[in-house]
Amino acid sequence: MELNLSSGKALRLLLGDITKIRVDAIVNAANSQLQGGGGVDGAIHRAGGPSLMRELDQIRKESGDCPTGSAAVTTAGALPAQFVFHAVGPIYQDGQQGEPDQLRGCYRTCLALAEERGVRMLSFPAISTGAYGYPLAEAASIALETVAQHLRAADTGVREVLFVLWDQGTLDIHAKALSRLAGKLE
Ligand code: APR
Repeated sequence: MELNLSSGKALRLLLGDITKIRVDAIVNAANSQLQGGGGVDGAIHRAGGPSLMRELDQIRKESGDCPTGSAAVTTAGALPAQFVFHAVGPIYQDGQQGEPDQLRGCYRTCLALAEERGVRMLSFPAISTGAYGYPLAEAASIALETVAQHLRAADTGVREVLFVLWDQGTLDIHAKALSRLAGKLE
């Protein structure tokens, strides 16, 4: 499913493994310590190889932890991309602790990094919706709205954003959120 925006820009939903799809930059759902983990973080480090963690060790040495809502950039090792943006999503508590703004901030940070680095094609997983417990429908609306808002701006270098979703249930929830968003944008 996809949403076509002005000047040939598009936001697409795909079912699959984010480590297998060729883009310019892959977004990872990391933690503040940048130390790797399970879920998509584990998959990205396994597929990318040890150079990712070596670069993150260096970043941690120089700058310390990566705060929630921000992201650290590494090269992509063996992954089919140039960069990985290791973004830190919020740990969901009750939705009243600033989680929506933090999640929005996370997507905005990655889009800004993409613009800075000349990325045309960017892929996201569903940040914070696994181990970090963010309710899927709410996270999907925030993610899609934030990305669509960015792509609708006139002068973005980013042309295509893929949401690569791991299972059918997650894809279905994003598809619903995307239809709602498309309705609002009409
Ligand atoms: N491709 C795409 N999506 C994937 C993949 C994959 N290969 N593997 C898992 N996912 C999906 C999960 O099914 C979930 O929908 O990514 C989404 C995000 O889940 P998590 O990876 O658990 O990320 P998050 O909720 O942000 O939690 C981050 O988990 O792995 C640790 O180090 C990470 O501590 C951090 C925390």
